[in-house]
Amino acid sequence: KLYGDDRANSRGVDLTDEATVRSLRAGIDAALAQAWTAGPIVGGQDLAGQKARPVLDPSDHTRTVGTTADATAEHIDRALALAAQAQPGWDALGGEGRARILDAMGDALEADTPALLGILIREAGKTWGDAVAEVREAVDFCRYYADLARKQFGAPTRLPGPTGESNELSLHGRGTFVCISPWNFPLAIFTGQVAAALAAGNAVAAKPAEQTTLVGARAVRLFHTAGVPGDILHLLPGDGETVGAALVADARIGGVAFTGSTETARLINRALAARDGAIVPLIAETGGQNAMIVDSTALLEQVVDDCITSAFQSAGQRCSAMRVLFVQDDVADQMAHLLKGAMQLITLGDPLDLATDVGPIIDEDARKILVAHGERMDREAKLVHACPTGADLPNGTFFGPRLYEIDSLKRLPREVFGPILHLVRWKADSLDQVLADIDATGYGLTLGVHSRLEGRAQEIFKRLNCGNTYINRNMVGAVVGVQPFGGHGLSGTGPKAGGPHYLLRFATEKTLTVNI
Ligand code: NAD
Ligand code: ALA
Repeated sequence: KLYGDDRANSRGVDLTDEATVRSLRAGIDAALAQAWTAGPIVGGQDLAGQKARPVLDPSDHTRTVGTTADATAEHIDRALALAAQAQPGWDALGGEGRARILDAMGDALEADTPALLGILIREAGKTWGDAVAEVREAVDFCRYYADLARKQFGAPTRLPGPTGESNELSLHGRGTFVCISPWNFPLAIFTGQVAAALAAGNAVAAKPAEQTTLVGARAVRLFHTAGVPGDILHLLPGDGETVGAALVADARIGGVAFTGSTETARLINRALAARDGAIVPLIAETGGQNAMIVDSTALLEQVVDDCITSAFQSAGQRCSAMRVLFVQDDVADQMAHLLKGAMQLITLGDPLDLATDVGPIIDEDARKILVAHGERMDREAKLVHACPTGADLPNGTFFGPRLYEIDSLKRLPREVFGPILHLVRWKADSLDQVLADIDATGYGLTLGVHSRLEGRAQEIFKRLNCGNTYINRNMVGAVVGVQPFGGHGLSGTGPKAGGPHYLLRFATEKTLTVNI
């Protein structure tokens, strides 16, 4: 089998087991007692950056988690020069050589779980469950791409030709990939992009989100310890508008892997088109306006559970999160009632507390957008339920989950990134209009369907162009190698992270014909 039926995903952690939790908590506390620092890492060296500043915990801004500093123009120049020199050697190592190193990275991440959980909880505001899932996903990406590197980047493929002629096709890295990642999966997406680019034979200049540099730096140091040469992988932290923009404008780069907002993807696309040098690919994985469609045959208790997970887990700060719930009129009142009841049980709080369901919003700018959207909804929509705002947690950026009923999806022209769900009613004869409205958003990331009519669910899947469709379950938490993840239209250029064709997007192909 080509795509590794023999491989298994990481095993995770049983958070219901007291001894496991106690031992992890000791590791987390020890990690958090350290003074974390992160700046540029170029040629394997930690360098002094500019604009040094403290990293504040989003759940309590009076708590300093560490310090970070940004890369300068000289750091960027040096990193790209070293990467260009070293990349042919990394490419020549072949799929097997690179796979061994990526497997070692998977092991290193697993062994570092307590420290990674600590940084994810305190720098990114992740709950225990989310942080564990992130470490697992990062491990899975490394092992999955290692597996693909072995299978796809091994010996060249022999092709037919006339007698006396040999033909073969081989896959190679494109040069130096710029990997730009968001704060909402600061370990999994950061590691996944880098691992894919490396697996395909590229050098990497990685720019983490400015909110989550500490965890990015931890990952880069682990990659180096696992065997990735310092000249092949560089960390260039800083703002998107300065460091990110300088990287994508550089004529020496071989491609860009970007995950973040649709607006930033557009900026990068324009910058790539405007620059000198080779024409290079952009892999963009962006936002969504994700909907779930529920008809009157659905099992409502299951729908409620799946809605709470899809809309409010990770404080709704997932690109895959559900923003709009279309419920058939006949069951809409019941659905709203059940949801309200379930929302009353949500615990907002410190993510280091295992009892917390929903942690903080990443920063004040992000929270202000939610507050402003809430104020607009208060005027234009019907509030079904608002969880407490977190007023008892005054030093953090909290926002309690909310459910509004709106009359039309047209009230939501763009993605609102947080725990706000919008319910829209539809009548039995208006499913076509529901599908047309979802289509008209231009996004195509995730879609949920709850229906016991199998034919109807399949029909909805076929008619909408969404990257990931989930029938009769929640619609978040795609698993590497199981639910390859990525969307279409405003949601991205279509590659599927954690899928069998992903590495090919990072590669170039060469055909060799020899007249023997
Ligand atoms: P963002 O677009 O603001 O930032 C993402 C990254 O781009 C950051 O590292 C940022 O510094 C950098 N950046 C910003 N401006 C830049 C520029 N001009 N040039 C180069 N780089 C620049 O997004 P965010 O707020 O960090 O993340 C949230 C967004 O990410 C949401 O829209 C979410 O839907 C999306 N997302 C998508 C996926 C997916 O797989 N489709 C996964 C996670 C998050
Ligand atoms: N891959 C992440 C999810 O599916 C974004 O939730």
